[in-house]
Amino acid sequence: MHWIDCINRCRVHVFSNGDWTHARASKMSDLLWQKDGVRVDARIMRFLAGNDVVLDREFFLHDITASKAHVEGLERIGVLDAGELDSILAELDALAADFSSGAFVLDERHEDGHSAIEARLVERLGDAGRKVHTGRSRNDQVLVATRLWLKEKLSELAMLCHDIARVCLDRAAVEALPMPGYTHLQRAVVSSSSMWFAGFAEGYIDNALRAHDTRTWIDANPLGTAAGYGVNLPLDREYTTRRLGFTRMQLSPVYAQLSRGKFELAALDALASAMLDLRRLAWDLSLFTTTEFGFVQLPDEYTTGSSIMPNKRNPDVIEMLRASYAPVAAARTEIEQLLSLPSGYQRDLQLGKASLWHGVSHGLSALSLLPDLLARFNWNPAAMRAAIEPSMYATDVAMEQAVAGVPFRVAYRAAAAAASESGAGRTPETSLAARVSPGAAAAPGLEILRDRLNALKDKQRAVPESNH
Ligand code: ARG
Repeated sequence: MHWIDCINRCRVHVFSNGDWTHARASKMSDLLWQKDGVRVDARIMRFLAGNDVVLDREFFLHDITASKAHVEGLERIGVLDAGELDSILAELDALAADFSSGAFVLDERHEDGHSAIEARLVERLGDAGRKVHTGRSRNDQVLVATRLWLKEKLSELAMLCHDIARVCLDRAAVEALPMPGYTHLQRAVVSSSSMWFAGFAEGYIDNALRAHDTRTWIDANPLGTAAGYGVNLPLDREYTTRRLGFTRMQLSPVYAQLSRGKFELAALDALASAMLDLRRLAWDLSLFTTTEFGFVQLPDEYTTGSSIMPNKRNPDVIEMLRASYAPVAAARTEIEQLLSLPSGYQRDLQLGKASLWHGVSHGLSALSLLPDLLARFNWNPAAMRAAIEPSMYATDVAMEQAVAGVPFRVAYRAAAAAASESGAGRTPETSLAARVSPGAAAAPGLEILRDRLNALKDKQRAVPESNH
């Protein structure tokens, strides 16, 4: 028997009570799963739904995009006819437009975004709308919408890291202002603003690479795995995979469910590595802007005043940037805690949606401030130079002796004994000019970093348009 005949038989059986033909037009507030005679307690429903429907606003357009691919797939296997498909696609587009313009508001009238889509289709199209959920479950629906969202956010992350790296590299190339290099926050050896910027340039190139690689790693289509065990329909999953711009299908329905949370953690890890560098960068700027250091002057708009102390300009933005690691780490922790689960769909992970959204959006908005801030803050060369003291040449002195044949440990002891005199005849510039180890001031290899940055741009370009 052809599979569609089999389904039709089942349909007759399932709907033999007449509900199929006489079903009333679904009100927007109907629960997809409500059954006659089963009481729904409002207080329990509120607990279950929480603010999920409001959070679904963030994922709604992706849910609609995936719904379009799903119905196209249904038409390809004969579940929908061409007319039904056209009307559903048009209605989904109209819903997306209404949502974007504010004419449609996703709110507590619906249990979640998934229900809202079906309710709208049923309300406007009747039985054609009632067919949309054939072969899918909200379990793969939430997965695919989140997956598309994560891919978009990882692209944004890669691009932001790229922009940050570019600004750092540009400044590393043009300003080599001497400043102390610190270890343990103690003056150690002569360094430069160029070395400082080159460090963060390389860091953000790596962060962009990680975002890109993570995006590739999670680029797998879960749509068509239904509740987590497949369905008795030959869904055209290859088609929906291509249509949604995924590079591969997530084949096993069981694995699709196992990947919920796991892929979110991977994305948060990629974001966290960018935030970790940001936290240290912000810490540096927070120190460098103090009167005690006085190395850095922030553009005015990155500082705020005090409500009581008329003399103050505070680096609040720097502090908020430094703090921005916390929501990302918190999201990671919450999802990791929620993931103590057996296989199969579990509602637990719904609870991670808020922190995922908060962590990702806060992290990206913090990173988005960096290119401009980094491009525009001013160094104070005089204060930086004044902080270099003669003993900071002691390592240079010891190394020169070692090159001349004195065993390093002997040279080290001699230089330590005369540390305060080691600056004689030396300047920060001569120290930096002699720092020829690859990556150091005299051999910074900025062109190598530039090549890596350009290779990254090519990778980014290689991402298909529909994948963005
Ligand atoms: N809001 C739900 C979630 O995030 C959607 C899936 C609901 N599925 C279910 N079987 N209750 O997990």
